Amino acid sequence: MSQDKIHGNLKGLGKQKKDEISRLLRRRLPPGEITTQEFSRELCGLSSSVGRQIGVLVNRRGQVERVMVGDAGSIMLPDLGRSRGDASRFRGLRYLHTHLAQEPLNDDDLTDLILLRFDLVLAVAVDEEGFPGPSFLAHLLPENPEGKTVETYPPFAPGRLDIDFLDLMRSLEEEFARSRPPLKGKGKEGVILTGIVLAGEKDASAENGIDGLAELRELARSAGVDVLAEMAQRRQKIHPRTVIGPGKIRELVMKAMQLGAVTLIFDRELTPAQVNSLQKITELKVIDRSQLILDIFAQRAKTREGKIQVELAQLRYNLPRLVGRGVDMSRLMGGIGGRGPGETKLEIDRRRVRERIGRLEKDLENMRRTRVQKRERRVSRGVPVVSIVGYTNAGKSTLLNQLTDGAVDVEDKLFATLDPTSRRLRFPREREIIVTDTVGFIHELPRDLYEAFRATLEELEDADLFIHVVDASDPSWEGQVKAVERILEDLELIGVPRVLAFNKVDKIEPFERNLRLSLRPGSVAVSALDRKTLRPLLEAVEKALFEDNDRQAEAWASLGF
Ligand code: GTP
Repeated sequence: MSQDKIHGNLKGLGKQKKDEISRLLRRRLPPGEITTQEFSRELCGLSSSVGRQIGVLVNRRGQVERVMVGDAGSIMLPDLGRSRGDASRFRGLRYLHTHLAQEPLNDDDLTDLILLRFDLVLAVAVDEEGFPGPSFLAHLLPENPEGKTVETYPPFAPGRLDIDFLDLMRSLEEEFARSRPPLKGKGKEGVILTGIVLAGEKDASAENGIDGLAELRELARSAGVDVLAEMAQRRQKIHPRTVIGPGKIRELVMKAMQLGAVTLIFDRELTPAQVNSLQKITELKVIDRSQLILDIFAQRAKTREGKIQVELAQLRYNLPRLVGRGVDMSRLMGGIGGRGPGETKLEIDRRRVRERIGRLEKDLENMRRTRVQKRERRVSRGVPVVSIVGYTNAGKSTLLNQLTDGAVDVEDKLFATLDPTSRRLRFPREREIIVTDTVGFIHELPRDLYEAFRATLEELEDADLFIHVVDASDPSWEGQVKAVERILEDLELIGVPRVLAFNKVDKIEPFERNLRLSLRPGSVAVSALDRKTLRPLLEAVEKALFEDNDRQAEAWASLGF
């Protein structure tokens, strides 16, 4: 007897009853029929004789895969494990069960239908004599203008349902596929962004005028994922286990199924336990803000040092999150070698991660030493260093390129730069400075991730002057300026002279440009795309570095600025 496929409340049932119930597992329904009259009669008879709801999960071939026994008013479904294929497909199981009261499908039934992505749910009401009464049927719906998620059928008498099950599933699957937005690139994965706004939370982003969801959208674009939908939820407080409430989870899962999304990205940090619960309930990949940023770093790092720093940051981030994720991590680490007696897989993984962290730290230390020597040589030659800092995507790389005619990778994506890049810039009158580009700053950079920035941040300590670039065309420019200043303050670098450069002024009206300049005395306006606009910036830099300078207009012009 396959007792392991019978779940739920078997307490107090005699052996004979249990045998009768387990016999359901041998039933096979004709594949084209949702249920048969005979099968419904058997379910109702059993259900009535034990006074409990009874349910079955039937696969597409018509085989009963699981049997569940509930109580008089509900059934708990067993953990079904991960479903076939990706999480945006039907599970290939339909859920048939009895209702002892003559009630239609209730909220629990519909939640099960959505969260478990059943082919359909059918409830057969049991009448007083234990025979099938009216039946209630529902299935999921593809995206539609009315925003309906579930189709609920009017109740029908047993044997009166004229639907070919396989045809129904075929056409539903086709409609789902047809109504899904096409993914914009090969190998891209569809994601849903989830923002949470807490009532009364002293939200750093709100304070800065930076919209958390808008920033997350930019980050997602940088990571190369395809954002299919955005959902925001206002909450009194974070749900301790799942961050968002059950209703919102249901909505997200349904949206993911309709749009073909496989990943949820949250606009905040999640605890390892929250990620696990959410993944388990939704069967979608769940990523928090730090992980997204790490992912972008990983894609962007170009030098060996940059790559090592990112791997270190990833390992450090993942170490406390290893609980229950031994398999994932072992893949990250490559093959798992022999293990000592009594050690669990997880202990091995943790130890290996720590070993690797130690090795990478040593490598990094050596590289750092070489870099320090180079820097010392530079300093001893007395060449001033100017560092370009600024919020991510402000135009730092573009500016560096224009200033130095070099070729730093410029992309309209956040964090295009992850390695410190130094270039020489010649001023008129044979003056020379070193200009370095840094990784983009961002508000609320997770503490763990500061480490990934360390190389660029160390370079900042050498700077004689900062060019603080801000995207003047971004509505939240003020918040971004403050975010950068706060980071400089954190790094105790706020005392270093700074020139604030409003960039991308080609995208705004002249009066807006003037307004911004008047709000920040001493600032300059440029358009990094156009070399000719850089002159005021260069003059400000020169003035700050070599105060005694008497400007030579012709000299500048001869250099093409
Ligand atoms: P991160 O490395 O992500 O921090 O970015 P960044 O600050 O180095 O910005 P980057 O130079 O990569 O520029 C970002 C985008 O803005 C690119 O698409 C640039 O072409 C664009 N951009 C830069 N300067 C200007 C400008 O003056 N005007 C306009 N219209 N676009 C600009």
